[in-house]
Amino acid sequence: MAIDRPKGTKDHLPDGSPKLSLDVQASAFAHVQETARRVLERAGAQFMATPLFEEAELVKRGVGGSTDIVRKEMFTVYYFGDHGGFILRPEGTAGMVRAYLQNGLKQLPAPLKLWTHGPMFRAENVQKGRLRQFHQVDYEVLGSTDALVDAEAIALMVDVVRALGLSGVRVKLGSIGDPADRDNYNEYLRGLFTPHLEHLSDDSKDRLTRNPMRILDSKSAEDQDLIRELAVRPMLDFLGAEASAHFAEVQAYLGAWGVEYDLDPSIVRGLDYYRRTAWELHHEGVGAKSALGGGGRYDGLSAQLGGPEVPGIGWAFGIERLLLALEAEGVSLPGTPGPLLYLAAMDAENVGLAAQIARSARAVARVEFAYKAQKPGNAFKDAERRRARYAAVIGTDEALRRVLNLKNLVSGEQREVALDDLNTVLTELENN
Ligand code: HAM
Repeated sequence: MAIDRPKGTKDHLPDGSPKLSLDVQASAFAHVQETARRVLERAGAQFMATPLFEEAELVKRGVGGSTDIVRKEMFTVYYFGDHGGFILRPEGTAGMVRAYLQNGLKQLPAPLKLWTHGPMFRAENVQKGRLRQFHQVDYEVLGSTDALVDAEAIALMVDVVRALGLSGVRVKLGSIGDPADRDNYNEYLRGLFTPHLEHLSDDSKDRLTRNPMRILDSKSAEDQDLIRELAVRPMLDFLGAEASAHFAEVQAYLGAWGVEYDLDPSIVRGLDYYRRTAWELHHEGVGAKSALGGGGRYDGLSAQLGGPEVPGIGWAFGIERLLLALEAEGVSLPGTPGPLLYLAAMDAENVGLAAQIARSARAVARVEFAYKAQKPGNAFKDAERRRARYAAVIGTDEALRRVLNLKNLVSGEQREVALDDLNTVLTELENN
């Protein structure tokens, strides 16, 4: 029996694959990464990469013991002789901050802007846009508490999705306050929910002791009913003076730059490290419950991981979810272009020559060649199937005279080009 890929994973496929949709089109996936690279590097972010697995302790301390991610969704790595001390990373931030601390990146000028992309792993209940292996583009800024950094981070996230051609994106912006504000809020929630314990899901009973705010993020319908019934006051009502002032400043910058957002007073986020500014990007194509991306400030994370106090802020979006949104809007992304030139030999003796010409022409353009001798008619058909713009067939005559007859596969026009001039001609054609 054939073996299928694991549930909750995707194959990313080459252009031209049967039944190809944008969310599994590998060239679209690469285009998202490239667009993010362009936008983020222009803003001064540097690429870095961290391992796909990390110490379990890093994930637990970083993401937080009360989160669904740590309690239910961790993929543990076992190997011979080891006792399962590693976790496939569920997100990028904890690893990025660990790498920052471990490699002395604090010595680089602050604020330090970093970005990465790669696969993340969460053992989720699989549904549309909710995978077990998914990919994030992740942006992190370390070393500043300035509200200007928050506003820039949010604006950059919007810039990336705009550069991809996506328009129906909404920013939901909130603040989680400082730790003392959060403690006050959790105390309020405890007081509110405790008399209604029997109406809470088992998970949320547990959350009530560990971290009541997590109840608001619960996926259980009975929890959400109770939250509505009790008319729970939002976190924003509990912001202290400093967090309030910081939040007002972030909003003032966004307003001045014309970055649109909806204030979401009840934003919680699914990870424990957040403080102050927190936000999500939403899009209809991904479904109301799932975000296209999210981020926030995490000034306490470095100390939580055993390092010095280093303020930080960042965001990540899911590449698969971005592709779903692009598909819903009918945006088409550039696929892999076909070759500029397709070369075939008419007889077996010249196949090696065709390959040699192709290899040297690849210095300037995309060039493919046929591995077997072909009749001209078949060679041109093959070239068209491969979406080539030009094709040439080499026979003994061309080989002796050291020329190629380039056929434009759209207009049918032919022109003879000396082999010595081929790379110059291809450079011109490539730029037309
Ligand atoms: P997050 O909200 O957990 O934040 O994930 C960010 C994005 O990753 C989500 O909005 C979604 O697009 C994508 N994502 C998450 N889980 C899945 C899944 N199961 N299937 C498909 N896509 C998914 C973080 O991960 C934070 N590290 C973001 C951050 C960076 N905060 C500060 N810096």
